[in-house]
Amino acid sequence: MELIIEQERASEFEAVEELIRQAFAGEELSDQTEHQLVKRLRNSKAYVTELSLTAKRSDDEVLGHILLTKAWIIDGENSCETLALAPVSVSPEHQGQGIGSALINASLKRAKQLGFSSVIVLGHPAYYPKFGFEPANRWNIRAPFDVPEEAFMAIELVPGALANVSGVVHYADEFSS
Ligand SMILES: CC(C)(COP(=O)(O)OP(=O)(O)OC[C@H]1O[C@@H](n2cnc3c(N)ncnc32)[C@H](O)[C@@H]1OP(=O)(O)O)[C@@H](O)C(=O)NCCC(=O)NCCS
Repeated sequence: MELIIEQERASEFEAVEELIRQAFAGEELSDQTEHQLVKRLRNSKAYVTELSLTAKRSDDEVLGHILLTKAWIIDGENSCETLALAPVSVSPEHQGQGIGSALINASLKRAKQLGFSSVIVLGHPAYYPKFGFEPANRWNIRAPFDVPEEAFMAIELVPGALANVSGVVHYADEFSS
C-alpha cells in the first residue's frame, strides 16, 4: 500500500508520542524520553509546523514520524540558522521497510522548499550518509557536547550553503530541559 507522508495533525499528537515511545523502547543509546522531547518541542520557538511529518498507509495508523526543528550554528558574533533532525521514529513492527528513509527524504525536500539551507543530525554514521549527510567537521561545525566526530553530520540543502559557516550548534532549549 502506498505510503503517505504529511504534516502531523493535532489530533495525532498522542498517537505520535506513543509511536516514538515504542520506537525507542529497545534502543540502548536512548534515555527513552524522546516522546517527551517532541511534546516540548511542539511548544518551542524552534518548532516548524510543516516539518513535523507522519508516515501512514491508512488514515488511522501512524507508522512513522520525523521532526526537524530550528537550530543555530554560532561562532562568536556570527549565527547561522539551520535545522536539527531529531528524532525519527518508525514503529517496531514496520522498521526495515523503507519508512524511515522515506521520512528523511521527504523532510529534507520540504525543508528546502521552505527556504532552509542546511540540516544537522546526530546519528548513526552508517545510516545518514545515504541521504547525503557528511561529517560536520568537514565544515568545522561542532556539537555542543562530546560525541564521536563521525556521528555528528550535516547536509547542505543548497549547494555551498555551509561554505562560510563554522561553529558550535545550539539546539533549542527544550532539548536540555
Ligand atoms: C532508525 C529508524 C528510524 C530507521 O527506520 P526504518 O524504516 O527501519 O529504516 P529504513 O527501512 O528506511 O532503512 C533501513 C536501512 O537502514 C539501516 N538502519 C536502520 N536503523 C539503523 C540504525 N540504527 N543504524 C544503522 N543503520 C540502520 C538498515 O540496516 C537498512 O539498511 P539498508 O537500506 O542498507 O538495507 C528506525 O529503525 C527506528 O525508529 N529506530 C528506533 C529509533 C531510532 O533509533 N531513531 C534514530 C535516532 S533519532
